[in-house]
Amino acid sequence: MPDFRIAPSILSADFGHLAEEVSAAQAAGADWIHLDVMDGHFVPNLTIGPDIVHAVSKACSLAMDVHLMVEHPEHLIDEFADKGATAIGVHVEACVHLHRVLEQIHARNVRACVVLNPATPAASIAPVLPDVEQILVMTVNPGFGGQSFIKQTLPKVAELRSMISASGREIDLVVDGGVSAKNVAEVAAHGADVFVMGSAFFKCEDRDYKRYVDQVRGILEPYTEAPTGE
Ligand code: DX5
Ligand code: ZN
Repeated sequence: MPDFRIAPSILSADFGHLAEEVSAAQAAGADWIHLDVMDGHFVPNLTIGPDIVHAVSKACSLAMDVHLMVEHPEHLIDEFADKGATAIGVHVEACVHLHRVLEQIHARNVRACVVLNPATPAASIAPVLPDVEQILVMTVNPGFGGQSFIKQTLPKVAELRSMISASGREIDLVVDGGVSAKNVAEVAAHGADVFVMGSAFFKCEDRDYKRYVDQVRGILEPYTEAPTGE
């Protein structure tokens, strides 16, 4: 039975009031905080570093889900672990030695997440299924908030859900990019159980985060009893 979780991405939050934003997200019922780290090389944008993760982790008690969109993520894992990351996601496309990087994350007692770009096939991560607690499917090309959901990623979500079921392991299947109340039902029906939401969450109507979380949970309600993916 899926245990759906909502993970607001602070990329679309008010950076001038980050502490208030994440504390409001927690009060509204969000489950994780998703933090997008971009280096201007792996993706054409530059965002936050470990000190911001630290500040956010002090402002709420939610899981700190750090998504590294950087080249050479192995150089940054220890620092993000030191600053409060509870999960660290690395792109399969950015890791020449993926298995070693995932072991490096586990060595810090942090949940390991492998991330796939929209054009990267599910099979590319089959060899590391025993080594992750989370798989994140990019449903936009990484780099910016507020982009449109790429629908042809949905079969890959379903394929990954089948691979997870066959593995017998409990692995969270996260979707990231263009997810909102409008498409969350369809994404859940394909087997995702964690929904990163940036612009849809932080720019929701009246910035009423609680109303938005309640709306999304209401939409997901019919899917909580149904088997997912297959
Ligand atoms: C994009 C980031 C996302 C982004 C999602 O590269 O990985 O986490 O914040 O934002 P929305 O939900 O607006 O597409
Ligand atoms: Zn992200």
